[in-house]
Amino acid sequence: MITIALSKGRLADSAIELLEAAGYNCAAARQQTRKLILEDKEAGLRFIMAKPADVPTYVEYGAADIGVVGKDTLMEENRQLYEVIDLRFGACRICVCGPENLKGRLDRIPNKRVGTKYPNITREYFEKTKRESVEIIKLNGSVELAPLIGLAEVIVDIVESGRTLRENGLDVLETIADVSARMVVNRVSMKMKAEEIVPMLDALRAKLSEQNAEEAL
Ligand code: PRP
Repeated sequence: MITIALSKGRLADSAIELLEAAGYNCAAARQQTRKLILEDKEAGLRFIMAKPADVPTYVEYGAADIGVVGKDTLMEENRQLYEVIDLRFGACRICVCGPENLKGRLDRIPNKRVGTKYPNITREYFEKTKRESVEIIKLNGSVELAPLIGLAEVIVDIVESGRTLRENGLDVLETIADVSARMVVNRVSMKMKAEEIVPMLDALRAKLSEQNAEEAL
């Protein structure tokens, strides 16, 4: 039995689709239910539906053997686990964003306040990469509000279509990283359950390269 931690929301659906395309029966995970553990004994799969930020924690501690989670969350959580496959869906960018009139002027604002769900990524970027000290204000969502309401000069957040920024008069000022969904594996499970996990990783890699080849046509 392999336990897979899925990020509740957008990434879970794409992960289920990919697993099914690779030949795994995910009927259990497709149930319309509020159950948080969904198990299919015959398929040898158990899914746990977790908050995205908690998926690396479940995998690091071995509560789940495998996880599907955004690279942004992995960068933020910095957990001890194996990152094994770039699943390519959930592609977006982590960016510094703010009012359009700050474009090209970001470095001229001293002691900036930065609103974000990603305090570690933000600290790493401003303090280590740019060698600039900033005040980080941790938020839990609707981060775009911060510069609109005067809580922070800029934000660090993920940008997918760019629609949220556009509709709020904000823009990308700097790009920190391109991110997408990743498959991660617990370090002990990788050895102890290799017989189940390795074929799954092979099947997923084969399906992804098939999809890649189709897209290139
Ligand atoms: C994310 C992110 C942005 C938005 C970006 O928020 O924090 O707000 O999506 O997507 P877009 O570029 O396609 O507009 P999410 O929907 O996860 O909700 P949250 O603000 O509550 O975190």
